[in-house]
Amino acid sequence: MKLNSGISRQISLSMALVALGIILLVQISSYALYTYLIRHSPEFMNSDPLDMTPTSEEVIWLVVTTFISVVIAVTAAGKLSRRILAPLNSVAESLRRVAQGDLTARATNYDHAMGEAAQLVSDFNRMAERLQHMEQERVFWNAAIAHELRTPVTILRGRLQGITDGVFVPDQAQFQNLLTHVEGLGRLIEDLRMVALAESGHLALQKVRASLSSEIETVLQLADPLLQAAGFRLELDLTPQAVLCDPMRIRQALLALLENVRKHATPGVVRISSLASGSTCRLRVEDEGPGIDPALALHVFDAFQRGDQTQQRGGSGSGLGLAVVKAIAIGHGGQAICRPSKLGGTLFELNWPLA
Ligand SMILES: Nc1ncnc2c1ncn2[C@@H]1O[C@H](COP(=O)(O)OP(=O)(O)OP(=O)(O)O)[C@@H](O)[C@H]1O
Ligand SMILES: [Mg+2]
Repeated sequence: MKLNSGISRQISLSMALVALGIILLVQISSYALYTYLIRHSPEFMNSDPLDMTPTSEEVIWLVVTTFISVVIAVTAAGKLSRRILAPLNSVAESLRRVAQGDLTARATNYDHAMGEAAQLVSDFNRMAERLQHMEQERVFWNAAIAHELRTPVTILRGRLQGITDGVFVPDQAQFQNLLTHVEGLGRLIEDLRMVALAESGHLALQKVRASLSSEIETVLQLADPLLQAAGFRLELDLTPQAVLCDPMRIRQALLALLENVRKHATPGVVRISSLASGSTCRLRVEDEGPGIDPALALHVFDAFQRGDQTQQRGGSGSGLGLAVVKAIAIGHGGQAICRPSKLGGTLFELNWPLA
């Protein structure tokens, strides 16, 4: 609607200018012609005022002004249609290419394109950009999921084949090993489900009023022995505060952060703090190093992002832990942050509104 009104206003304005120009041309030139004829060549005027036959000068004047008027009208119409039609044609052409599957197609934004036509071109280009990005994401996700599922399934298949062929003894240790791999697969599938639910806005949380510090202590009963065994020392700075949250999901996020400390940080102090500032509550986990490369820190909460060192070490993680942490933070109406810690390593923070 806006497009029509804007462009039709421009067309009306241009037409009015053309009409005004032609009328002025006719009026001024006729005034000039008769002034000249009366002053300098009165003999060329019709001697009989009732004779309506145009003189040769008048015929020339009529032909010349008609010609100039047509040129003015054609030039104005051409200019106008170029400013409107060139961008529209470009969008139509690119749209056809996008429909045929070429998501790299972009419309050309001409310099003098009219406001709305130029807006249409840039909106179209933004949409094409988004589509291309989504397509790249889809391809990346499919490849990453296939890659992550292949390893545990190959291991399971090899083990089960070994047991069937009598190569492995089907004892308790063997089944325990199989169970560990199945649990790993289960976790991977659950992480993928969480991230997918969060991305589609369907992550359901059961929010209740809960004490954040007692939820943290519950997690630590489980995680502390493992952290201590790996050489970490806990430092707690907890503010007793009732907050609105889904306790199970908050415990899950904290566990993922502590699991990361155990896997990726150098042994030393791990500080866990909870605080309420203003209307926001914050849960932080900090370690002493080695920190996260700033380039990775920008995308560390995206799925399947892992540090170079982690990949070189052939780390067992899939790079979904922090994507789940972010999904939980966003589900709570808050955000997940990663920045350097004063302890020398990384600070991960989950924050969300208190009420
Ligand atoms: N505390 C930390 N110190 C240093 N690097 C970290 C820390 N936490 C995360 N990272 C880096 O961020 C990457 C992404 O972490 P994320 O938890 O998403 O995946 P992961 O731990 O590799 O795998 P998963 O959690 O799925 O088992 C890690 O691979 C690691 O390189
Ligand atoms: Mg992790």
